[in-house]
Amino acid sequence: MLKRISTLVVAGLAAMAMAACGSGGGGGTGGDGGSITMGFSQVGAESGWRTANTKSVQDSAKNAGITLKFSDAQQKQENQIKAIRSYIQQKVDIIAFSPVVESGWDTVLKEAKDAKIPVILTDRAVDSPDKSLYKTFLGSDFVEEGKKAGQWLVEEYKDATDPVNIVELQGTTGSAPANDRKAGFQEVIGADPKFKIIASQTGDFTRAKGKEVMEAFLKSNPDIDVLYAHNDDMGLGAIEAIEGAGKVPGKDIKIITVDAVKDGMQALADGKINYIVECSPLLGPQLMDLAKKVLNNEQVPARVVTEETTFTQEQAKQVLSTRQY
Ligand code: AHR
Repeated sequence: MLKRISTLVVAGLAAMAMAACGSGGGGGTGGDGGSITMGFSQVGAESGWRTANTKSVQDSAKNAGITLKFSDAQQKQENQIKAIRSYIQQKVDIIAFSPVVESGWDTVLKEAKDAKIPVILTDRAVDSPDKSLYKTFLGSDFVEEGKKAGQWLVEEYKDATDPVNIVELQGTTGSAPANDRKAGFQEVIGADPKFKIIASQTGDFTRAKGKEVMEAFLKSNPDIDVLYAHNDDMGLGAIEAIEGAGKVPGKDIKIITVDAVKDGMQALADGKINYIVECSPLLGPQLMDLAKKVLNNEQVPARVVTEETTFTQEQAKQVLSTRQY
């Protein structure tokens, strides 16, 4: 009996030692059932999209049995660089991050490569010419999103002969979604000179800044026909500004946004937004899959593009109750 108890105690201690080794960071053995520690540097908590993305990453790590070290950079590149350096020091198995801006990552990515820690980009791209600095990039095609926004506008105004005055609320300056959504939109509407972007400024992807900038747009431009906001949150802030100025959002000023988070979809269903281009934040499950493959030395595609759609007001009414985020 005594012998049986001591065997159980030894087995229990061995199991505890293995668990402690796995949760300490850097002790992982890869994607084949060994424990993995991932360091994840998030942009911030600037939007409903970002909150949903954080939840998706955290929930998926848990479901995949991956230990997640998570940090919020509060929209500052220097905080992300600090977090990545700290993950390198902690010898995590893999680093994933959503780069707040496109430029300025080469040095820290080289440090991770020298330390033999693989990196996965999620959501946003970097402009580094050396593609060997990261294993894969998982996220949306932001240029395509901008084009979809432009295509709706071209169709909506196909019979108009007067100029169409557009104001644009850009995302965070220097970020991939701001650069690409602007470029894609411009490419499509640029074919017809009646479309005029009369004002364009960053609203930093936040509701508060979207409201503030829209108030300024309204003061200096009496004839705004269309607002193109690079995300729902800025669009929702702008709606407050438009209503505050005594105008009717969705009618006096047509509104196109990107994301399709629940609040945005509600405004679309209510007729305050006219069209939303979807950008999915639910990247967590694919990210964890890719991390396991990378650590198992399996081949992964250099680019994994998220599948997305678009929503009209009628479509928003149909799917609103089942929207996950
Ligand atoms: O990078 C994705 C963008 O970042 C989302 O469209 C926006 O809402 C977020 O803040």
